[in-house]
Amino acid sequence: MEIFLDTAQVDEIRRATAWGVVTGVTTNPTLMARAGGDPETVLKTIAQLVPGPVSAEVIATDAEGMVREGRHLASLADNIVVKVPMTPAGLEATHRLAREGIRVNVTLVFQPGQALLAARAGATFVSPFVGRLDDVGEDGIGLVEEIVAIFRAQRLSTRVLAASIRHPRHVIAAARVGADIATMPMAVLEQLMRHPLTDAGLARFLADWEAARKGETEAAAARR
Ligand code: G3P
Repeated sequence: MEIFLDTAQVDEIRRATAWGVVTGVTTNPTLMARAGGDPETVLKTIAQLVPGPVSAEVIATDAEGMVREGRHLASLADNIVVKVPMTPAGLEATHRLAREGIRVNVTLVFQPGQALLAARAGATFVSPFVGRLDDVGEDGIGLVEEIVAIFRAQRLSTRVLAASIRHPRHVIAAARVGADIATMPMAVLEQLMRHPLTDAGLARFLADWEAARKGETEAAAARR
């Protein structure tokens, strides 16, 4: 399972890519607004920082507008993927953009039927929203699992991108049920790599090392 960062904060992306685990980025209008600055400059900068796909979402809600915006977003960098909402207009835009060779990520997927239709329309990625489903008492990871099973049974090549990830257990569960990608905020990526016993273990190793060195130095001084 690949790890994407769900952010438009360039400094976060720069920091995370240095660790060698992040292969792509997803943004949405909320994240772009939060990042501030000129959206096109921000997207171009992000596209240079990561080797893989960078999802940039359209704002238009009609198919014609989505296609127009999608073409423009895709022209900003080779690795930009057009993110389109799961609506009838979004499906039409997905179909039209895919026929032009532009990769599309269909977002705001909350049930397996939507994922199946997105795949049939030509989406390269579908984004089931795990956390937002959990928030309303449904089973977000269960949805990811069902979509993965359907795509495998139907031999659909559309990639399952688990989104709206809120904590490390979501990441582990998404990997376990076979998601192709999980996209997560920087805070979750940081939580994923930490454990208090790792920190305590390292502190202990260093303390033991220093104590032994101090002992050796004192013994050598006593011999002189
Ligand atoms: O980018 C889409 C998704 O990951 C948003 O997550 O936390 O706003 O539900 P969240």
